[in-house]
Amino acid sequence: MFSNNIEVVFSEKEIAERVSQLAYKISSDYVNSKLLVIGILNGSFIFLADLTRCISIPIEIDFISVASYGSSTISSENVEFKLGLKTDVLEKHILIVEDIIDTGYSLHKSDVINHFIKSGAKSVKICALLNKESRRKVPIAIDYLGFDIPDIFVVGYGMDYAGLYRNLPYIGIINE
Ligand code: IMP
Ligand code: MG
Repeated sequence: MFSNNIEVVFSEKEIAERVSQLAYKISSDYVNSKLLVIGILNGSFIFLADLTRCISIPIEIDFISVASYGSSTISSENVEFKLGLKTDVLEKHILIVEDIIDTGYSLHKSDVINHFIKSGAKSVKICALLNKESRRKVPIAIDYLGFDIPDIFVVGYGMDYAGLYRNLPYIGIINE
């Protein structure tokens, strides 16, 4: 089993409970409004799949990719949009879904929030499963947050190390 060397930080049950609480809040905050949920690939795909299945109002779902160069555990300052959005954002409320906010560079430097506002979105908010506040380099306001974590590198539940471990059903750290 490849998970023998993984120490659990958040179990499947803990994640599921928190995700359903976030979805409940989102469902009541956006009741009667046009909500477009935008996942940032690749890390958000599992969180987004679980979150949206707990959201009880009709929503649209799309994805973008905001990539930083390289595959190290160090966040890069060089970020770019890789995929354009196919869904029209005009007059819609947008909820951007991220796996984890670390330095904040991905969201800040790619200017996604301003991009959608300029494209005619009514509002843009951020939902992140994890937050590493102590690592922040640029301010990011997280509107819906799963958990705060210290400065540790985590994998699983969509998050990778060198492309691996995204399929772990829980969140953990790799013990060498
Ligand atoms: P930021 O641009 O530094 O905020 O980094 C955000 C992105 O870096 C996240 O969406 C993740 O893809 C990746 N990342 C940051 N910290 C971790 C971690 O602990 N494990 C896995 N990926 C991470
Ligand atoms: Mg990511």
